[in-house]
Amino acid sequence: MMFDEKLALETLGEAKIQPSSRLVFKRCSLDFVSEEYVGWMNDPEIRKGLVSNQSKETTRQDLEDYIRHLGPRTLQLAILREGSHIGNIKIYGDLELHHGRMEIGYLIGDRTQSNKGFATEAVEAVVGWCFEELLLQKVTSHCFVSNRASARVLEKNGFVLEGTLRDHVLWNGKFKDCRAYGKLAH
Ligand SMILES: CC(C)(COP(=O)(O)OP(=O)(O)OC[C@H]1O[C@@H](n2cnc3c(N)ncnc32)[C@H](O)[C@@H]1OP(=O)(O)O)[C@@H](O)C(=O)NCCC(=O)NCCS
Repeated sequence: MMFDEKLALETLGEAKIQPSSRLVFKRCSLDFVSEEYVGWMNDPEIRKGLVSNQSKETTRQDLEDYIRHLGPRTLQLAILREGSHIGNIKIYGDLELHHGRMEIGYLIGDRTQSNKGFATEAVEAVVGWCFEELLLQKVTSHCFVSNRASARVLEKNGFVLEGTLRDHVLWNGKFKDCRAYGKLAH
């Protein structure tokens, strides 16, 4: 079957992705906005990896507004390990979807769960689903040049470094370089 934007949008709206025996995904609703989640977004170690705007502290209200306003072209999933919310992974793209392409972003916010392969597993499941169910041609992801752990997660999943984007993200008042990674369906 060929990629079809309308069908892909419908599939995104009904997504049920099962990652692995170690993890469970649930659609990230307001129920997942906890003190811990707010804490992750204000943890300097986490923040320095996030390419989204980090020019101010994140409040509970910010997270609630963000989740309330997620559009149909974004699927944000909570990553659960033994019933605990340990991080998030999202698939998103507005104009991108028109081209059979979407972007992924992820975080393991509970740092007691870092370096156990959970981000790698979450990315594997989401990317497999993007190719098999959305019939995307390409999945992309961007990370700061300094973010070696995130680059490893992508490389372990077969993403290819396509280039370095200079001064690509305004982060805390400074422009930072980003690495652009992509994986093709075939
Ligand atoms: C990046 C992040 C998602 C990784 O999650 P994780 O569950 O710890 O990742 P995994 O365990 O699946 O894999 C991490 C890999 O990076 C490696 N790694 C970790 N820290 C590293 C470092 N400082 N330098 C080089 N490699 C590093 C690990 O050894 C592992 O690779 P390996 O399996 O070859 O040993 C997590 O640290 C995070 O959420 N960071 C903050 C937010 C963020 O940066 N998100 C990504 C935005 S692009």
